Amino acid sequence: MNKKSIKDIDIKGKRVLMRADFNVPLNKEDLKIDDDIRIKAALPTIKYAIENKARLILMSHLGRPNGKVQDSMRLTPAAERLSELLGKPVKKLDDCIGDDVKKAVMGMKDGDVILLENLRFHPEEEKNDPVFAKKLASLGEVYVNDAFGTAHRAHASTEGVTKFLKVSVAGFLLAKEIEYFDKALTDPPKPFVAILGGAKVSDKIMVIENLMEKVDALLIGGGMAYTFIKAQGKEIGNSKLEADKLDVAKSLMQKAKEKGVKLLLPIDHLIADAIDAYSNTRVVDETVPHNWMAVDIGPKTVDEFKKELRNAKMIIWNGPMGIFEISKFARGTEDIARFIAGLKATTIIGGGDTASAISKFGLTDAMSHISTGGGASLEYMEGKVLPGIAALNNK
Ligand code: 3PG
Repeated sequence: MNKKSIKDIDIKGKRVLMRADFNVPLNKEDLKIDDDIRIKAALPTIKYAIENKARLILMSHLGRPNGKVQDSMRLTPAAERLSELLGKPVKKLDDCIGDDVKKAVMGMKDGDVILLENLRFHPEEEKNDPVFAKKLASLGEVYVNDAFGTAHRAHASTEGVTKFLKVSVAGFLLAKEIEYFDKALTDPPKPFVAILGGAKVSDKIMVIENLMEKVDALLIGGGMAYTFIKAQGKEIGNSKLEADKLDVAKSLMQKAKEKGVKLLLPIDHLIADAIDAYSNTRVVDETVPHNWMAVDIGPKTVDEFKKELRNAKMIIWNGPMGIFEISKFARGTEDIARFIAGLKATTIIGGGDTASAISKFGLTDAMSHISTGGGASLEYMEGKVLPGIAALNNK
């Protein structure tokens, strides 16, 4: 990594302003955290800062409150969970800027941890407003970004703030994410295989174009596969189709051919007559009949995909193979997940739905790296420079 990390700087006795991504799913009824993986992922940097006697000021967004205070999006549950995980108090403030915040921060002792209130309660955060960024920056002496999940946003707390603090470095989580994605995108061990899925091909066009230059095989499943299958002239029934992307799908298949990259699509499908747990289902080869829709890849496709994956040295996966949230449509995603979990290959899982699927199957520890970024990992795989990373000090 060509960016400085928290290990490269002196933090003892300093006010360390750290951007984390505590944008965690909350239960609508009791506002309890449904999945704390993002909080746990930030622990190595947080613990390092505490052990090295920094005064740690954490900041994050939660949800999309549209620049207004919304009680259901306060960061209090995150502070409570973090406090449990650390076994020490984490003071949650009621705002992220202002006199009270300044006073609390200036009263901190070495090893103390404070969590500011949801940054997005101020519209200036998402606008990357320099006055707001300067106010945030004034709370710290050095800045650490460990929010990979938000690194694709050029916001005040991820980008603007670095203009007002000379020392801006990466935390351990951000560094780890960069390390895995950079390896895959610049120097992957071969064979390198990408598995892509999810509902929409439009979300993945740039990822496919970028990966096409690097992978030996692209395995495509999920709803997005059906725009490709339709572009081959086959019937897809009511399966997911983006009609305005048929030409793009055709040209991607042509490009793969020219480059000698194997592009595999489902050869059989689990089809259903409705998207719910009570629907009628069956497995069909080739075409999807009228009034039915494909909801998962079929067993023959799983076998074909396994053949490609078996000898891979590196695998990157973004997007489930079917509507795995409904158990009877989860088989294809689960079979592929279990198979790659048992391989020696380095396995990199994009965040968002794919990470949730892996966690649902209890395979989180079996993968080399599960990204904490959904949108961020997609943009990284598209080959984009993420503003939250670009803004940090070079080594
Ligand atoms: C995420 O969950 O992808 C990040 O926290 C970014 O959230 P956003 O899409 O609301 O900017």
